[in-house]
Amino acid sequence: MNSVLFQPFHLRDLTLRNRIVLAPMTRARTGAARLPNRLMADYYAQRSSAGLLITEGVTISEEVNGWSASPGIYTDEMAEGWKLTTDAVHAKGGLIFLQLWHTGRASHSNFHGGRSAVAPSAIKISDGEIHTPNGKQPHEVPRALETTEIPRVVGSGTTGRSPTRRRCPTGPHPRGRKGTRTSRFTRRNSSKPHSTLEEAGHVQHIDLANPQSPRRLQ
Ligand SMILES: Cc1cc2nc3c(=O)[nH]c(=O)nc-3n(C[C@H](O)[C@H](O)[C@H](O)COP(=O)(O)O)c2cc1C
Repeated sequence: MNSVLFQPFHLRDLTLRNRIVLAPMTRARTGAARLPNRLMADYYAQRSSAGLLITEGVTISEEVNGWSASPGIYTDEMAEGWKLTTDAVHAKGGLIFLQLWHTGRASHSNFHGGRSAVAPSAIKISDGEIHTPNGKQPHEVPRALETTEIPRVVGSGTTGRSPTRRRCPTGPHPRGRKGTRTSRFTRRNSSKPHSTLEEAGHVQHIDLANPQSPRRLQ
């Protein structure tokens, strides 16, 4: 128990009681309603002696869903559902971050009534298949977001007074693994320079640690 693994760790204003962190893992336990439930609260509470828990990916709006039975946080009812988990973890002295998820091109039109999934650019995932509500399907070319849509997508995240930020019962953690959310906007294989933005002189570098203060690229 003297191992450094069991020593506290200071993460900004949080003190983790040890250095063990639960990796985010999609468990798909909500059913079609995507409502966080008691089963999930038990799962996280059982692991609350870790220094920090990061939840499974949690979608920030209806249009970004791309995995069956994964939870959301885009309605007040969902936010209430998450309180089952956060209350259970906090009651055991644990800390938990919600992992926010925009599935982007890793989604499929079967999740959206036949409409294409949205992504930074119209570039599909080159290999593999996706599990959809109608079975396994090849990946599709997503619809590239229009410049005018970007404020809506940003607004459904955690910036400013967005609904997700208001509903978030805990620290937010943007999902950045391959093809999802942050990495989609920074990797060349999923995002090409947006000509409309460039022409308008709006190309900016967003500091992900401080998304409120974008600065223009030199
Ligand atoms: C069943 C399962 C579900 C996962 N779900 C997520 C997820 O929701 N969000 C995420 O960022 N990573 C997810 N991952 C990736 C894991 O968090 C982790 O990064 C990966 O398993 C590699 O772990 P390692 O670095 O310990 O090998 C998932 C992995 C597994 C096995």
